[in-house]
Amino acid sequence: MSWIREGELNLIERLSANILKAGPVPKHVAFIMDGNRRFARKKHVDRQEGHSQGFNKLAETLRWCLQLDIPEVTVYAFSIENFNRSREEVDGLMELAKLKFLRLLDEREKLEKHGVCIRVLGDLTLLPLDLQQLIAKAVVATREHNRCFLNVCFAYTSRHEMANAVREMAWGVEQGLIKASDVSEALLSECLYSSNSPNPDLLIRTSGEVRLSDFLLWQTSHSCLVFQSVLWPEYSFWNLCDAVIQYQCNHASITVPQLHPNTTLTPLHMTTPPYTLLHNTTPRCDPVPKARELHQDEQRRQQLEADHACVAELLHHHGNGKPADAPRRQEAVTEYGVRREARVKDFLDALRNKRDSFLTELASQAT
Ligand code: FPP
Ligand code: MG
Repeated sequence: MSWIREGELNLIERLSANILKAGPVPKHVAFIMDGNRRFARKKHVDRQEGHSQGFNKLAETLRWCLQLDIPEVTVYAFSIENFNRSREEVDGLMELAKLKFLRLLDEREKLEKHGVCIRVLGDLTLLPLDLQQLIAKAVVATREHNRCFLNVCFAYTSRHEMANAVREMAWGVEQGLIKASDVSEALLSECLYSSNSPNPDLLIRTSGEVRLSDFLLWQTSHSCLVFQSVLWPEYSFWNLCDAVIQYQCNHASITVPQLHPNTTLTPLHMTTPPYTLLHNTTPRCDPVPKARELHQDEQRRQQLEADHACVAELLHHHGNGKPADAPRRQEAVTEYGVRREARVKDFLDALRNKRDSFLTELASQAT
């Protein structure tokens, strides 16, 4: 089975897709593809066959996403915690990955035709060396494609990713590229494996489990979460449509503050969690402020506050403790912001180069 499964929607599916596309469509959907082993037990096939059918379903789902104009998909293919499964199962999943990434290299032309860029997010060093090399070769082969994006989280957990981002920032400070005071939420986001992608608009978990299992914890703070009971290998076009409809109802409530009759406008963001949990329930359509925008404003405010604090300290050191007048202080803050941005940009370039060199070096070792 190839990565992009060719095929057309039937008439009813096409009609439904067009109706859905008349509304807001998520630009980035993340999947926790859960339930492969339960599917295998249900169908009396072996576990490996369950995972293999799980991959086939991924290929089919990617096609549906493209047909629904969803340009970016992120999937949880192998968690670091999955290393604790039996040796036989882990080896089976590694073999499946090898087979599929080899297949990906054979399909380069087809992926180029569709403009598919495939990225792998995770700690590759935890994987067998031959798989690391193969993955690197596959990632390098498609990295210039830019029409649609598939991010495969492999040897991934969110906490590992965040800890790694913190280590990268510590490296930047050690190298003298950034100052400790440059560390911020925004910079941490840029150091994550997912820094090239917008945050997911919609996260879907199959198999009825209602938890995130250490997947994209940082990136989904404002995403719509949809939990569906279907086992992943049985996922259907209609399950995807159902999730998109739930997103659309939720999207309306987040981005277009609409009042129900007789409702007073209260700042609901102060009384509700930052995301709306949807689990086989009627979608909520309360007036909620634009959570993402509010959060970005807050980040900018925090950055400005940090710049003011740094400048105050600098002026204190260089001005014999005398307070600077307001215009001088403002000018100093502006100049400081410009220098900080340049520092951070150089650091991020260095980080990108470090990661690119790691991948290119690995890819060159692949046989
Ligand atoms: C979760 O079901 C699924 C996995 C741990 C593996 C998912 C992997 C694939 C779908 C193949 C992807 C491969 C590539 C190369 C992208 P589970 O095993 O937890 O099943 P259960 O919940 O029924 O026990
Ligand atoms: Mg599971």
